[in-house]
Amino acid sequence: MTAISTQSEKIKKDFETSNQKRGTFWITTFGCQMNKADSERMAGILKKMGYKEAKSETSADLVLYNTCTIRDNAEQKVYSYLGKQAIRKKTSPNLKLIIAGCVAQQEGEALLRRVPELDLVMGPQHANRLETLLNQVDNGQQVVATEEHKILEDLTTARRESSICAWVNVIYGCNERCTYCVVPAVRGKEQSRLPTAIKHEIKDLAERGFKEITLLGQNIDAYGRDLPGISPSGRRDNTLTDLLYFIHDIEGIERIRFATSHPRYFTDRLIKACADLPKICEHFHIPFQSGDNEILKRMGRGYTIEKYKRIIYKIRELIPNASISADVIVAFPEESELQFENTMEVIREIKFDQVNTAAYSPRPNTPAASWPGQIAEEVKIERLREINYLVENTARGRNKRYKNKIVEVLAENINHKDKNQLMGRTRTNRLTFFPKSGPDNLSYLPGDIVNIKINEIRAFSLTGIPVNK
Ligand code: SAH
Ligand code: SF4
Ligand code: F3S
Repeated sequence: MTAISTQSEKIKKDFETSNQKRGTFWITTFGCQMNKADSERMAGILKKMGYKEAKSETSADLVLYNTCTIRDNAEQKVYSYLGKQAIRKKTSPNLKLIIAGCVAQQEGEALLRRVPELDLVMGPQHANRLETLLNQVDNGQQVVATEEHKILEDLTTARRESSICAWVNVIYGCNERCTYCVVPAVRGKEQSRLPTAIKHEIKDLAERGFKEITLLGQNIDAYGRDLPGISPSGRRDNTLTDLLYFIHDIEGIERIRFATSHPRYFTDRLIKACADLPKICEHFHIPFQSGDNEILKRMGRGYTIEKYKRIIYKIRELIPNASISADVIVAFPEESELQFENTMEVIREIKFDQVNTAAYSPRPNTPAASWPGQIAEEVKIERLREINYLVENTARGRNKRYKNKIVEVLAENINHKDKNQLMGRTRTNRLTFFPKSGPDNLSYLPGDIVNIKINEIRAFSLTGIPVNK
């Protein structure tokens, strides 16, 4: 008995001393929500291993860059960050330098030649394996983990950036082949998580006080395609729509969002579910990429702009207050002035609440990168300028509908620019600022859902005051 307890105490002591030696970590995240979610899980793993959060990037003992390669400028940014850390390693030889995410997957071993100071290069499918990989690094190896990997359910508690809103991955990877896009190459094949595992994670979040969840997938409408499950009627019964019904009633979760939707697979049944289920927020992010059918075809998107508009009008018929956002690429190879104008026209017609715009950037190993008719840089800049101007005006116009209206805002945080204010979002995903104190000496905290009367509108945010409803 004594021997065992002495033994276990020794192990505990060893563990504690090794934890004390772990030092501090710093993670910088580039790119999309998928990367943000992966970073939160990796931070959870590091904490469990005994690392503490560093006060700054330049003092950390372990620096991890979780990278994005969607466009060339995103990729280049990483090299300039890495360069600085490589210099620091000359004077701090114990510094551990890690590159994770999509650039890591794309470049693999080539990164070690470019930045020999790197200790670990790990693709996004390996995020949950960080501890195992770091143990290999501790054994003196330089490690590259980019092979195709079945993502295992993760038992680590993610260290979430927020304590109110959480990302929940439901499907990894993408099986589409949009001709401009690197994501399928760097994120691998679609892998859906089991509905029970997703529900379990959300229940745990609810118990820890989270109020809002966003279900995540690069093409979330593909959810369940790789899972077994055909209902007696012959219809698949594990689609995104089924998942929404399955998780909807978890007590404590007040709001549910999901992204990103693909117009090719967006169904009427999904729209009806969103209209039906009270916790699903009235916001839809559905990229259309181009307003021109010829360009859409060459992008390999699998829908026409008419089909896209039908989806939007159906949403507006069933959920009139819904806000709609999208992504668009301008200056795709051979895009003419007229084709660009077709994209502008869709924005004028639909009146989006928000559009993320980007100029086409040729990516390695994607078909469109080697096509003729690449558009000159000056034209890209000019089209981007024009479209951004339109997007901003359209968004401001759309926001007029909030003026003097009372909206429900979930407070997420203190406004760091004005500590007397809270910031949060409307159900329609508009960023909203309001004073911390309300009527009857009430004082609000992050996590509260507050009725706000909007008195100031801008293109992409609102300001208001708390009111009794
Ligand atoms: N899965 C989502 C989004 C993926 S990436 C979808 O299918 O819409 C996020 C956005 O980056 C895309 O919507 C697209 O607008 C933009 N993007 C992707 N590849 C790009 C490229 N090569 N050049 C410019 N923008 C690109
Ligand atoms: Fe890229 Fe297309 Fe997949 Fe979106 S659907 S991630 S744009 S390949
Ligand atoms: Fe970028 Fe990878 Fe996301 S390339 S946009 S971080 S999937």
